[in-house]
Amino acid sequence: MALFGFNRPEGLKHRRGSRQWRGVIHEYADRLDVSKNTPVVSLGEGGTPLIEAHRLSEMTGLRVFIKFEGMNPTGSFKDRGMTMAVSKAKEHGAKAVICASTGNTSASAAAYAAYGGMTAAVLVPDGKISMGKLSQAVIHNAHVLQVAGNFDDCLDIARDLAENYPVHLVNSVNNDRIEGQKTASFEVIDVLGRAPEYHFLPVGNAGNYTAYHRGYREEAKRGRTSVIPRMFGFQAAGSAPFITGERVKNPDTIATAIRIGNPASWDLALAAREDSNGYFGAIDDQGILAAHKLLAKEVGVFVEPSSAISVAGLMERAEAGVLEKGATAVLTVTGHGLKDPQWALKNADGSDAEPTKVPVDVAQIAEVLGLKAGA
Ligand code: F0G
Repeated sequence: MALFGFNRPEGLKHRRGSRQWRGVIHEYADRLDVSKNTPVVSLGEGGTPLIEAHRLSEMTGLRVFIKFEGMNPTGSFKDRGMTMAVSKAKEHGAKAVICASTGNTSASAAAYAAYGGMTAAVLVPDGKISMGKLSQAVIHNAHVLQVAGNFDDCLDIARDLAENYPVHLVNSVNNDRIEGQKTASFEVIDVLGRAPEYHFLPVGNAGNYTAYHRGYREEAKRGRTSVIPRMFGFQAAGSAPFITGERVKNPDTIATAIRIGNPASWDLALAAREDSNGYFGAIDDQGILAAHKLLAKEVGVFVEPSSAISVAGLMERAEAGVLEKGATAVLTVTGHGLKDPQWALKNADGSDAEPTKVPVDVAQIAEVLGLKAGA
């Protein structure tokens, strides 16, 4: 396979006992549409931790694992699809890529374009993306355009531009993105030895929902799992077209990553739900923020609010009594908490969480902490 910089730097050999994860294209080249002519544009994405969440297991009676996708190079699962999309764009001779985004896709496109020596243009909804994500697109030198509309408007424009101008679309309507993202299912099976009974994840455009299901189906065909997980996808209540059954004109939620009224992978996702005996549900913003705190406090994993909807969805379905006790559930948490930290600094009542101020004085600090000398 043609190598583009990363991973097997020329003349360097791995030392005995050390093995660096090589990114999803190299790790799964046998299961992706790549050849020796594909210039692999990789930042080492994938290989993310699957963390057993003992507290959530206790609370639900299931065996719960968190797939922590915030550990990807740009802090979200988008990097899996972006390494494929940008590599294939380069293979096809593209010099520029474009995407619409609620923030994570643009951060990822900007970083991978930078590594691949290409130009990135990103269209984001004005005022509705977190500062962390915006800063990533800016520092990676993308053309960042804030459109006076929502994500769905941005995607319409990006598609139009890609059709009529020499610029390659890297949104998940590009199948290369879904192909890269399906590698997360391969990793889950690599660790568990089979697929889980249930898989929970946030839904915006429903590309990731589609990708995981595709990955599991393919692995079943290869004989690597006999279980096909029931796919549980969750949308924010103010932005839930799969629940209302129609496009939401003015989607509204604090979970800006999934503030999408017209999912690009609508038909594919419905087919995946059907095939997996899956489910779509909605969670309101308060429920999302409660799960955001719960995951951080009980499991030690800090995610952005949109990602926490996987946890909220699990709790809701467990309470509804529809999940089999003892079964395995994997929850994908899609983006890192540092992407959008403002929500961590709020108390449950909406007031600002302030650190307690203390003087430079051991005795006083001990008192504030409730510590007694020698005890
Ligand atoms: N979680 C996060 C953190 C996201 O950024 C997204 C999508 C999703 C979940 C939903 O994934 O669209 O495949 O259903 N973010 C896109 C973006 C829209 O532009 O970054 P999906």
